[in-house]
Amino acid sequence: QIADSLFIINNFAREYFTKTLFETEEGRNVGLSYFEERGFSEEIIQKFQLGYCANEKDTFVKTALSKGYNLEYLQKTGLVSIRYEQPVDNYRGRVIFPIHNQSGKVLGFGARILVKSDRAPKYINSPENDIYVKHKVLYGTYFARHAIDKLNECLLVEGYTDVISLHQAGIENVVASSGTSLTQDQLRLIKKYTKNLTILYDGDAAGVKAALRGLDMAIEEGLNVKVVLIPDNEDPDSYVRKIGAPAFREFVAENKQDFILFKLQVSMRDAGADTQRKSQLVNEIAETIARIDKLEDFTKQQDYIRQCSQLLKIDEEGLVNLVNKYIRERM
Ligand code: UTP
Ligand code: MN
Ligand code: MN
Ligand code: MN
Ligand code: MN
Repeated sequence: QIADSLFIINNFAREYFTKTLFETEEGRNVGLSYFEERGFSEEIIQKFQLGYCANEKDTFVKTALSKGYNLEYLQKTGLVSIRYEQPVDNYRGRVIFPIHNQSGKVLGFGARILVKSDRAPKYINSPENDIYVKHKVLYGTYFARHAIDKLNECLLVEGYTDVISLHQAGIENVVASSGTSLTQDQLRLIKKYTKNLTILYDGDAAGVKAALRGLDMAIEEGLNVKVVLIPDNEDPDSYVRKIGAPAFREFVAENKQDFILFKLQVSMRDAGADTQRKSQLVNEIAETIARIDKLEDFTKQQDYIRQCSQLLKIDEEGLVNLVNKYIRERM
């Protein structure tokens, strides 16, 4: 019951913010020109149902209340809060990214500030409530599911705008973890559509760390994981805009790395000449390889052992024994 009411309010808000974006002067001058500066086409803005919330105290909430929407539920959605006993709009002066469920209903919103500020967060996201459970949601699934099905592959990026820009570039099999670390529920959601996951995270330290964290969890789920590192200081959105859609596709195809080799390279770079860390690293890799189901993927496991022993410059048989030790421990 509460859930239905929240969906209805979110749907009303989505429409309202889109109208504000296209049909008010402030919306066009501020919101629409912001999107245009970012290179978003009108078509893509419509498709993702982007919007704008006027930079005034309570324009939205007043309209909502006058139409009979319940204040308590408006607060639950995170669209409205109470300041000095007055209801106020939480997303004022921000551009709006609706977050849809798999069938296109609006679960919540991300609201982005237009000008970077030290005093306010870049994005304000809906709070968790009866319909929005963050760790179960991936941004963009509604728009991506057919392409994921067709291509039998899902690309995973960090942000809302990465998903949108890639769509505009004709890459539609893409969803976003929205900055949080990947959860088991999100991986299960992907698995409903495909077993092939390609992580496209930022090339900075945080991106590498996040990619590594997602890896072990994803293989536990039985997914085939590949990683593409976007060059430093770029994300998929900025990079596709910089080099263009065809070059971006080529970049992804050429830089798709198997996750174990990715992990190995990152760790080897970190370990350098430190022999103790290197032997620790050999153990970690053996443990990761041991996680691959041997019956299902025997050749894959052998391949990894061969490639890793070459990269690490260690004896292949030694690595086989170590992997087997970890397999026994897991049984
Ligand atoms: P980023 O900081 O990479 O933002 O965070 P972005 O997606 O590139 O956004 P633009 O291009 O600056 O507009 C990645 C994701 O982390 C979440 C958002 O989902 C964002 O898309 N995030 C980030 C927040 O929820 N809050 C924040 O303050 C920042
Ligand atoms: Mn859960
Ligand atoms: Mn980043
Ligand atoms: Mn960005
Ligand atoms: Mn980013």
